[in-house]
Amino acid sequence: MAIKLLTYDKMAQCETLVIGVFSDKKMNVTGLPKHAEALLQRLQTLGDIAGKSGEIHVLYPEGPGPRRLIVCGLGESVRLGSAEISKALGRAVKRAQALKAKDAALAVDTFAGKLLTPERMAETAALTGVLAMYQYQEMKSLPALGDRVTFPRLYLVSRNPAAISRAADAGEVIGEAVNYARTLANRPGNKLYPQKLAEEARALARRHAQLGVSVMLSAQLAKTGFGALTAVGGGSAHPPVLIELKYRGGKLKDAPVVLVGKGITFDAGGISLKPPAKMEDMKFDMSGGAAVLGIFKAVAELRLPVNLVGIIPAAENLPSGSACRPGDVVKSLSGQTIEIINTDAEGRLILADALTYALRHKPAQIIDMATLTGAVVVALGNAASGLISNHEALAAELQAAGELSGERTWRLPLWDEYRELLKSEVADMSNMGSKPGAGTVVGAAFLEKFVEATPWAHLDIAGTAYGDAGPVFAKGATGAGIRLLVQWLRQRKA
Ligand code: BES
Ligand code: MN
Ligand code: ZN
Repeated sequence: MAIKLLTYDKMAQCETLVIGVFSDKKMNVTGLPKHAEALLQRLQTLGDIAGKSGEIHVLYPEGPGPRRLIVCGLGESVRLGSAEISKALGRAVKRAQALKAKDAALAVDTFAGKLLTPERMAETAALTGVLAMYQYQEMKSLPALGDRVTFPRLYLVSRNPAAISRAADAGEVIGEAVNYARTLANRPGNKLYPQKLAEEARALARRHAQLGVSVMLSAQLAKTGFGALTAVGGGSAHPPVLIELKYRGGKLKDAPVVLVGKGITFDAGGISLKPPAKMEDMKFDMSGGAAVLGIFKAVAELRLPVNLVGIIPAAENLPSGSACRPGDVVKSLSGQTIEIINTDAEGRLILADALTYALRHKPAQIIDMATLTGAVVVALGNAASGLISNHEALAAELQAAGELSGERTWRLPLWDEYRELLKSEVADMSNMGSKPGAGTVVGAAFLEKFVEATPWAHLDIAGTAYGDAGPVFAKGATGAGIRLLVQWLRQRKA
């Protein structure tokens, strides 16, 4: 593992020490040299270090020991959960990176509030460190020496390294899985089209002996009856594919969890063309599919005891002479017919066929992830993913996993009033609501028609899958869904 653990007596070897301070507690940094401790105490008494959330100080104590201290405010100790700790650590690691620090040694014990166990704290620190240092660089020609990005070496400093070593490893594994998905999602549409995404899935399976992969190409999709997926992919020179991943960590008789991820490698809207502003963001429209790949990477490395199937319908939604039109009726794999009112509501179309296909695995649960609607950004911004489910217990588990992992979800209702809006005059259903409003729920109500009685949850990650630079993430993809679902899979009872 790239992250190393240190005891307090060894931390003097580090250049940069990162410490958390609460607003309602005295700071407690055992092992710091006397002069550094005195400096911190003086600043706390003065009130210059108040410990408010978001606060950050860089100090340069004179004398032996760490040359640089980064002090992060954490706010009140009782209110501190994973999401807040993550923000503070993220700010600190990014600052260390900006200062071109040689290393960043995170004094994890100083961050632990009342809500987190030492193990959870170590995992959060390792994970956040890995996420905060990520930069998407593969499209840049070699940067000039001066502005080359540096990656400080990460250490966790703890009183009891042995106790947190497994947790730190898990955090690093999950962080690397998230970064892997971020790179795929950040990759432009001309470099990552459906067949390329399939190649990535194959490469992942090659690197992990426990993973299997198969890919259905477009001729076979058409022959098998994937009418909705082939209609969406029909406008592009890059044909659609269906990617299927398998992992066996559970008992032979255990029904699998099936994860489905929207894999639109670019969404121009099709004939219902999108306006130009921010259209470039639609390269992120395969973030759900990338999250499925990231989850498989993490699950394989953590060797979780679960049977898992991943399904990624992948297509490029472009306008052309062979694209589907508004008014077209297609027959989905389920046999139900769909009137395509708006070709820009393509995600639900490809997911419809993927969900029907998922049922062939007789799943215990199906969870889909998709950048499905602009409406979820209006409702929740980028603070939470929309959660819609036909199953109370599953929804509750996902909400709990969201709080614990720092990746929140917020549940929206699925009532008959929304189902009504999908009625079509000419087909079994329409792909869009007959009147405006509740776009996120209407999208989910459409998906629900393809899961039969299987416990199912839909995560609309359109607001969380990418964004501007924040305390932890750089601008671009975030790998939304991975931390959440890996946490859910770990706590799930078979
Ligand atoms: N990929 C988009 C949703 C989206 C919008 C993601 C903004 C991220 C940011 C999706 O395919 C789409 O176009 N949805 C339409 C549905 C509508 C036509 C019913 C939307 O949300 O406007
Ligand atoms: Mn669209
Ligand atoms: Zn889309």
